[in-house]
Formats: sequence, structure tokens, C-alpha cells
Amino acid sequence: MCGIVGYVGKRDCSEVLLDALSKLEYRGYDSAGIAIHTDGEIKTCKAKGRLANLEEKLRLSGGIKGHCGIGHTRWATHGEPSDINSHPHGNATVTIVHNGIIENYKAIKTRLEGKGYVFQSQTDTETVAKLLDYYYKGDPIEAIRRTESKIEGSYALGIIFKDFPNTIFALRKDSPLIAAVGEDECFIASDVPAILNYTKNYYLLEAGELAILKDGKVSFKNLDGEDITKEMLVADWDMESAMKGNYEHFMLKEIHEQPNSITTTITPRIVDGMPNLEECGMTEELLRNYKNIFVVACGTAMHAGLVGKYVIEKIGRIPVTVDVASEFRYRNPILTKGDLVILVSQSGETADTLEALRLSKRNGASTLAIVNVKGSSIAREADFVLYTHAGPEIAVASTKAYMVQLAVMYLFAFELAHAKGTLSTEECKRLTGELCNIPNLVESILKQKDNCQYVASQLVNSENLLYIGRGLDYALSMEGSLKLKEISYIHSESYAAGELKHGTISLVTELMPVIAVATQRELFDKTVSNVKEVKARGAKTFVVTHSYINVDSDVADYKIGIPTTDDLLMPMLAVVPLQLIAYYTSVLRGNDVDKPRNLAKSVTVE
Ligand code: AGP
Repeated sequence: MCGIVGYVGKRDCSEVLLDALSKLEYRGYDSAGIAIHTDGEIKTCKAKGRLANLEEKLRLSGGIKGHCGIGHTRWATHGEPSDINSHPHGNATVTIVHNGIIENYKAIKTRLEGKGYVFQSQTDTETVAKLLDYYYKGDPIEAIRRTESKIEGSYALGIIFKDFPNTIFALRKDSPLIAAVGEDECFIASDVPAILNYTKNYYLLEAGELAILKDGKVSFKNLDGEDITKEMLVADWDMESAMKGNYEHFMLKEIHEQPNSITTTITPRIVDGMPNLEECGMTEELLRNYKNIFVVACGTAMHAGLVGKYVIEKIGRIPVTVDVASEFRYRNPILTKGDLVILVSQSGETADTLEALRLSKRNGASTLAIVNVKGSSIAREADFVLYTHAGPEIAVASTKAYMVQLAVMYLFAFELAHAKGTLSTEECKRLTGELCNIPNLVESILKQKDNCQYVASQLVNSENLLYIGRGLDYALSMEGSLKLKEISYIHSESYAAGELKHGTISLVTELMPVIAVATQRELFDKTVSNVKEVKARGAKTFVVTHSYINVDSDVADYKIGIPTTDDLLMPMLAVVPLQLIAYYTSVLRGNDVDKPRNLAKSVTVE
């Protein structure tokens, strides 16, 4: 949510900032801006809309030459997307970029207005810029410290002062921020892909840490003004993994990366054919003793948790509650010492999930993070971490991250069930073997995209759609439905197939196509009955099921056949056509697939 960057070095700052911002545009894309030290002053250029608008504006104005500056790509929270509300904000003395939310900005604004400050924008960020100006008496660190003591909320800040033309100051609380070092050059960024073109060496700022970037070096201070040393990290993502390559969209590329992501995620965690999660400290003894499990996450990650619930309860016989993080944190959940809370997150920075983690720890529960981004806040704060090795996921619509969240959920469920004695060694090995074969099966589904393109062509003019399923198919339908609505803008809902006739079936007409997921063979006949019910009311029906199963034409107008594995693992296969259907529908509707309207990749505000 908002991307911030900064560069100080010998290169053309404007070029570096624009390039780095292009790697962060997935974090927000309603406006962008840069501010650069040039000829003894700070010059700013901002533009509403995509980064391309800023580039054009810079081109027409002759650009800004310089070697030290900051940049921002925005997802609006306070004030509509406009040139004025775009970052950077500031004046001739100090200019900033900000990611996060300043909760007490109104009080600060009123106070500063009383001192004669005039505000131009509707943003919370401008209050920080003005507060810095107010406290600045020649010592930038003192001004930052005093400002920090007055602001509440979440923030990552990049700051430049007119009097310090070769220095960037950066401060973090809650919103992610890295400081990176190349050869005689330094960077700040919200996320690693922004710097990969220049260096892989970076430092992760923690809450209350201030970075000072100057002369090709980064130094750090705490808020008492004391020097601190930090460990340098080396990014294990390469530039190629953060590029589109020959694919038209990141989403399509990421869908195709799934077989490899699964293999990379599970292989190191399988020993002698059995799941082994000891790398994160989760011993069989610990697993055996948990009384309740909670899975807490948002959006797609929460949907992975729903699949986990079905699987863990079925084979591990332990109650699992799945919660949306924004609800969990405010519903005063009943947590006790013997409970395990699993936090699932691609970014590891989702504000509600992070707060749910903190709440769980305060209540004495153990916490396990299933996270993709190394060193992210959720990963750092949880008691146990299992990384999903999906590589960078750039498309706003999550695909490969979901897939590997499922993979880890399965390994976890298998090991837990085995530890509890509800799954025999033989059965555990068999299921683990099936899991290892999933990448091949996903690969084979990816070779038959025509059927998904056909379904997309049938959906493209719809305004409403239903996804139905039972059991694991229902859990998966939720993800299919979310994927479609977020990138195609077609309204869709997912429903437990058996629940339809308790109200929702009244919506079904010939204008309401229905996608039924029917991979759970013990429930197949029941789901088929529900499909017949909607077909009898005029709905066009599309059924996702095993290739070998024949589906009569009085049930399905169109069948999407997928290979067979154990029913427990079928969501990992059935999700692929659902992702592709959403993708092709979005393409046919002419939408910006990777950057759907109103959304941003990493939701770091609640
Ligand atoms: C999925 O396509 C979404 N864009 C969204 O639901 C996402 O999964 C959610 O915001 C959670 O993000 P996280 O995994 O980074 O925590």
C-alpha cells in the first residue's frame, strides 16, 4: 500500500527513482511523484494516475537533474487521487514521502494552522512534512526525533532536507522499509524488487529505527539518537523473477510459475517421504499438544486457511477456526495457552493480520506464520515461521502465493495428523507422495488453457455469477469468486451448494451463470443435484471436475476436466482453471489485469 523509494549516488536520480517506482507500482497506482535535490533546492514533480503520467510530465518539463531524491507511488487513503494529494509533500526546507496512516493528523494540523501553516492537500502526510519544518532548526535528526514523538499511526518515511543535498533520512514504524547499499550508492524502498536492478544487499528497518544514507553508506540510529548496527541481508530473489518476461501480464506469469513454486516450497520439507517442519521449530510433540487451531488472514490468504481447516479437521481431528483478521482482532477471541494461531500472508505486512498476531501473542497462544516475504513483520514477530517460496508476487491478484500457502497447509496437516496418530505413517507417506506429484498435474492443466478461454468468453458479458461447491470445493469456490471479481469487476458470490435453496437461488435466472466445483467424489452426486436445480432455473452451468467423470448435458453446459489426485488435494488442481477463467475474463473485458481498480497489493492499513 503505497510504494516509497529513495536514491543517493552518482546515477541520474530521476531515472533510478522512476525505475524503482515501476517495480513498486503494484503497491498503489493512483498517482506518483518524485522530489530531487537540484541546484541548491528541492524540485518536485507529481502526477495523478499511473507512473506513465509522471514520466510524461517530467519529459514535457525537461525533467529534474540530480543525484539525491525520493519518490512515491500512491494508494489514496486521505484525499482523492490528484496532483495536489500526490506525494512528495513538503516545502523549500524539507520534503517527504510516506507510506502508512497518521492517525492524529487532524490534531497536528489544527495546531500547526494555529502557528500560521497553510495546508494545500487533504493528506495526513502533509502534517508530517509541516511538523518536520516546524521542528527543524538546523539539526535534521533532532527534527525527525521530535516529529516522531508527536505522530501516531503507521509509517515509513523518506525525508530530504534542502540543507543536506546528499543525504536521505528514513524512518520506520509498522509500514515496511528497507535501506540498500550498492557501489557508492544507497537506496530506500518499501520492498526488495525496487532495488534488484542495482544491488541485492539491504537492511530491514525495524520500528523506531532511523537510517541515514550518505556517501554510499547507510548508518542507523535509534530514537534516542544512539548509533546502532544492523545485519545486512542479501536478497534471494533475482531481477528476472520480478519481471514479466514474455508473458502479457504478471498474473499469467505467476500462474505458470506455480509448479516450480510448489516444488521449491515442499522439497526441503520432505524427509524420507514424510513431512518434516522441524526447520521452524515445530516438533511433533508441540503439534500433538495443541488444543485449538485458529487460522487468521485476509482475502486469498484467508481462503487458503479455509482449505486448511477442512484438511486439518478431517485428518487431524482438531478444531480449526478460520477468521478474517479484521474481525478476529475486534471480537475478543477466546484464546488460551495451548492454542495455536496460524497467520497466513503473502506480504507478511498486512496490517490486520499483523495485529491479530500481536493479539494472539498477548493472549498466550503460540503463533505460526506462513509467509512469503522474508524478514517481513509477521515473519519476524511470530513464534514459528514457515516461508512459502513463491518468489516475488507482483500481480495484485494472488495466485502462486495461494498455491504455496495450500502446499504448506497440507504439509502441516499431514505432520500434525501423523503426530497425533490420526494418520498412519503409510497414509502420511502416500498423501505426501501425492503432494509431490501436484506440480506435474498443474503443469498438465496449464497446457489446456482453451477450455478456460472458452468459459471466459461465455462469462464476459455477465453482470453476476455464482460459484458453488461442497466441502473443500466450497472453500475453493470462495477463492475462485474473489479472483473473478477483483480483476473482471463482475459481481460474483460463492455459495455452499446445499445452502442455495435457502434463499439465494431466487437470484438464479438465465442471466446468472453458475460455476460448480465438484471434485469431492463422496459429495459429487449431491453437488450434481444442486447444479440441476440451478440449471432448471435457466442458469448456464460450468462444472469443474475430474476429467474421467462424465457429466450429463442436463447438468453441465460445459465441463472443465482436470486430472485426478487424492480428493483432499484436489483444490491445488481445481484452483488453476478458476484462476485462468478470472484472468481471461479480465483480459476480454479490457481491464488492467495486474493493477485492478481501487486495489493495492500489500494492505498495510486497517
Ligand atoms: C488476493 O488476490 C488479494 N489481492 C488479497 O485478497 C490478498 O490476498 C490479501 O490482501 C492478503 O494479503 P497478504 O497475503 O499479503 O496478507
